[in-house]
Order: sequence, then structure tokens, then C-alpha cells
Amino acid sequence: MLFFTLLLEVIWILAADGGQHWTYEGPHGQDHWPASYPECGSNAQSPINIQTDSVTFDPELPTLQPHGYDQPGTEPLDLHNNGHTVQLSLPPTMYLEGFPRKYVAAQLHLHWGETGSLGGSEHQINSEATAAELHIVHYDSDSYGSLSEAAPMPQGLAVLGILIEVGETKNPAYEHILSHLHEIRNKDQKTSVPPFNVGELLPQRLDQFFRYNGSLTTPPCYQSVLWTVFNRKAQISMGQLEELQETLFSTEEEPSRPLVRNYRAPQPLNQRTVFTSFIQVGSVYTTGEMLSLGVGILVCCLCLLLAVYFIARKIRKKRLGNRKSVVFTSARATEA
Ligand SMILES: *[C@@H]1O[C@H](CO)[C@@H](O)[C@H](O)[C@H]1NC(C)=O
Repeated sequence: MLFFTLLLEVIWILAADGGQHWTYEGPHGQDHWPASYPECGSNAQSPINIQTDSVTFDPELPTLQPHGYDQPGTEPLDLHNNGHTVQLSLPPTMYLEGFPRKYVAAQLHLHWGETGSLGGSEHQINSEATAAELHIVHYDSDSYGSLSEAAPMPQGLAVLGILIEVGETKNPAYEHILSHLHEIRNKDQKTSVPPFNVGELLPQRLDQFFRYNGSLTTPPCYQSVLWTVFNRKAQISMGQLEELQETLFSTEEEPSRPLVRNYRAPQPLNQRTVFTSFIQVGSVYTTGEMLSLGVGILVCCLCLLLAVYFIARKIRKKRLGNRKSVVFTSARATEA
């Protein structure tokens, strides 16, 4: 009997260690995730650094259409500090069109940096991170009954990634989340938020995005995510960023640990292609191509200039020759 109790205890401890405990830094930090969660060490991971000079324009990419974002039901939404992030539950009346299947919303959450840091996004564009990043998580409801059922399956999830930078003014849409953070300072605390227009969290120009196959950015890092990262950024004020960086704790009780720096470093792209829905200014030609184009134009101009010079010289010579013969004939005339 005692043996079985002990065995259960051991299994429970192992399960808790393997299935629960991970952090961003330290002995359970991101470099150690693959030891407990093998998929985190696999070859199609997220986030990535999007190099805009090596993306592929795909004119066939359908426009992305969020539905039900403006009014996500009438019931309050759950806002939860889970120790890793702040997460807002979303109703399945919110869904995305523009994919082969219907993806319904499940939750959204944020990633951000150290207090005072302007780097905290997970995705980067041309090696530049922004202050924070919003992820709106959807699952394929045509094929699966729930988020947890879809999460490990290929293309089971569609996540929208919105890079957030600091701007001049307070963003009222983000205030619907940020103004409630003080109610859920500690891990596992929950509160309710009145429904609001979630669409206003998105940036301008939903038609400009990057699309690639990747993973969850937290353990167990399932490679099941069809990623959409918008080209344009959303903006919040410095005060709002500070609220995000300074309000939450990743612990349930003392000693309290601030919930900051909850972003994963960019992962290798490996053999993947990043598609874009739009032609970028500057990405039509690479820097090298631009340079050779510039040199080409310069050489052409030089040739043209030389040609004009020689033609002008020839014309002048001809004119001088004519004048000489005129002088000659007039001289002969006076002789006679
Ligand atoms: C993602 O992977 C699937 C299966 O390999 C492939 O059909 C699809 O084209 C890929 N999509 C992107 C955006 O790379």
C-alpha cells in the first residue's frame, strides 16, 4: 500500500515536472525546453526573424477576413494571469475567413520585455523587435472540437501576430485589457472584462501580412500553427507599455517575481518559405540588385555624355571646315 502511494507520488512529481514547469530564463529556460518538450527542438519553430528581402510574394493569398471581432458576444470575457502571460478568452462567434478551413477564436495573449525595454516582441522584421506582441489564437473548427484537440494537429491552429510599438497616444482598444491587469496581479488570478471591439487591437492594412508554417512559441511548441504576422504595427503609449511591464507577477505568493521578458528568441527558418500578401517597396530588388542597377544607370549616362561630346566635336569641325572654304573662295574672288 505504502509502495503504491510512493509510486503515485513519484509519478505525480515527474508529471508535474515534465508537464508544467517551464520559464523563459534559468534552469528551466528556453534553451532547456527541448529536454522536457522535444518538439521545441524541432525544425519548424516559432517565432522567426522575417527577412523581407527573402520572402516570396504570393498573389494567390486570399485576403484575411476577421468576423465577429467587433462584437464578441454579450457575456463578459475571462482575463487570466496564468503565470506566463495575460490571456483573454474569446468566443467561437469570432472566426477567420481566408483560409482553406474555418478557424474560430479561442484566446488572445501578449508577450513583452523587461521593465523599461522597447524589445519584447517574439517575431522580428529585418532583425528588429518591437516593444510587445499580441497573439490571437484560432483553431480549425471544421476538423476539431476544441483548441486542445486541434493544438497538436498539422495546421490545427491559425494565430494572428500583431507587433506592438510605442506611439504618442494612448490606444483605447488596448485599455480594455490593460486597465484590468491590477485585478490579476498574481499567478492564477482571474477577472471578467466586458466585451469590446477586438478588431481595434489589429493594425491598419490587414491586407499586408506574412504567412508561414510554424509552432506554438511556448512549450509544448507543437508545430501546428499557420502564422499570419501583419506588416503594419499597432501602437500603444509608453504609459500603457509600462502598465504591461510593471503590473503582473509570475508567482502565486511571496516571494513575488515580476512577469516580464516572456518572449522566445527567434528560431531558425530552416527550409521554410515565408510568403507575403503584398509587394514590398524595396523588396522588388535586393540591395545588390539596386547597386548594380545604379551602376548600370551611371555607366549609361556616361556613354551618352561621351557620345554627345563626340558628335558635338564633329559638328564643330565640319562648321570650321566650311568657314575655311568660304574664306578661300572669297580670296580667289578678290584675286580675279
Ligand atoms: C504549410 O505546410 C503545408 C503542408 O506541408 C503546405 O501545404 C502549405 O503550403 C504550407 N504553407 C505555408 C504558408 O508555407
